Parts: sequence; structure tokens; C-alpha cells
Amino acid sequence: MRIAIHPDAAAVGEHAARILASTVERTPDAVLGFATGSSPMATYEALARHRRDGLAFDRVRGFALDEYVGLPAEHPESYRSVIDREVVQRLGLTPGNIRVPDGAAQDLEAACRAYEDAIRASGGVDVQLLGIGANGHIGFNEPTSSFASRTRVKTLSPRTREDNSRFFGGDVARVPMHCLTQGIGTILDARALVLVATGTAKAAAVAQMIEGPLGAFCPATALQLHANATVIIDEDAASELQ
Ligand code: F6R
Repeated sequence: MRIAIHPDAAAVGEHAARILASTVERTPDAVLGFATGSSPMATYEALARHRRDGLAFDRVRGFALDEYVGLPAEHPESYRSVIDREVVQRLGLTPGNIRVPDGAAQDLEAACRAYEDAIRASGGVDVQLLGIGANGHIGFNEPTSSFASRTRVKTLSPRTREDNSRFFGGDVARVPMHCLTQGIGTILDARALVLVATGTAKAAAVAQMIEGPLGAFCPATALQLHANATVIIDEDAASELQ
């Protein structure tokens, strides 16, 4: 695992964006894995600067990590909407090239299988961008998730619903109870992982991920198993490292 510590969130985003941009320079139809939430926003902002400098993203293909169950796709906080707004439109991606798990499907298990099939058919993810939950989750693989897990329905933990209530007007009752998420096994199949984290709220989870024993109580420790994982954090998120 490579660790890079930067003074602030903007520098974290620039570093992660350089990795993604150089992948797209080499491979214009690369398959990128996109995260949502607050952490990757500085990366998308920095990638938009690469676009303004002439990098074309129109052939890039991509997969989101996760989606809430039960929110209509057009809900402003569905990850379909967030990906469309923050990634597809900003970077000039071709909408049909970017998939998000279908959290509104009648048959959620079939939707999960279809998602795994689509990732496999694409040839696999070249670079997967990740955030980390304060409880150590990656994607929405909450503590106790199997390291062998694939895309599936999960129940969000009370901590995650509380943390994400800021996107729902501060009302935890409006945060869905369930989600579809790529599994830890799915995430580990990506050829490269880039995890970004900023702020003291993430410091304990970051320390556990990097220095803690491998274990399902901190799903992000699975990154220790990956041969090409880069963790890019600010000084606050690094503050509990030994
Ligand atoms: C989002 C995702 C989650 C977030 C994590 C951190 O697609 O998969 O693992 O990365 O919950 O969220 P933020 O960045 O909002 O603190």
C-alpha cells in the first residue's frame, strides 16, 4: 500500500486526479470506478481542470460503487443523480457509458447480478476511486462484510445513516435503510485502488485501515491485500497514524 499525506483536501484531490487522468491519457476508453459522498469531490473538481486543459473523457467507461435502495433515480441524492451531476456532466462523459447499480429495480438480486456481469463484460475496472466511512466501510460494505463479497443488497448501519443524513436535510429518517453495493471482492478485482480521505473524523478508520489487523470489523483493511493500492489523505486524516 502506498501512502501519500498532503496538507489539505485540494492537494489530495489533485493527486488522485493525476492518477485517474494519466490512466485516461494512456487508455482513452479506460474503465474507472466512481465513488460518491464528499471525499471524491475535490478529485472530480481537479479532473474537470484536466478536461479544460484538453483531456477528453468521452470514451471513458465507468461504474459507480453503490446506490440507495428505494430512492427514485431522479431524486437529487440518489447516486445516479450525484454521478450524473458531479461526474458525467462535469467531465463530459458519455452518459450511456456510465452505470450505477439499479436501486429501484423490482428484482434487486437480479440487478446485482447484472451489475457484476456488466463489470466483467467491460474487462474489469482499471482504477477504482474510494472514500472510507468513519466506521471503516468501503463502498457500503459495512463492518462484518465478507472480503469475498460481490455486489449485493446491504443494510446501512445506524452510524452511516447518521453520517449521511447531512445529504437529506439532517433528517436521519429520510436516509434509506438499504443499498446496493459492490462487494469487497468486487472492489479488490479492480487493477488499481485509489482511496481518498480528509478530516479528523476519518483519522481512526484510516489508522485502522493502514496499521490495524486485517479483519471484517474494518472493511477497508482489505486494501492491505491489494497489490496496487494508493491511499491519499490530508494531515488531519493522518493524525492517528503511529
Ligand atoms: C460512496 C461510498 C462510501 C463513501 C464513504 C465516505 O460511494 O462508497 O464508501 O465513500 O461513506 O463518505 P464521505 O466521503 O461523504 O465522507
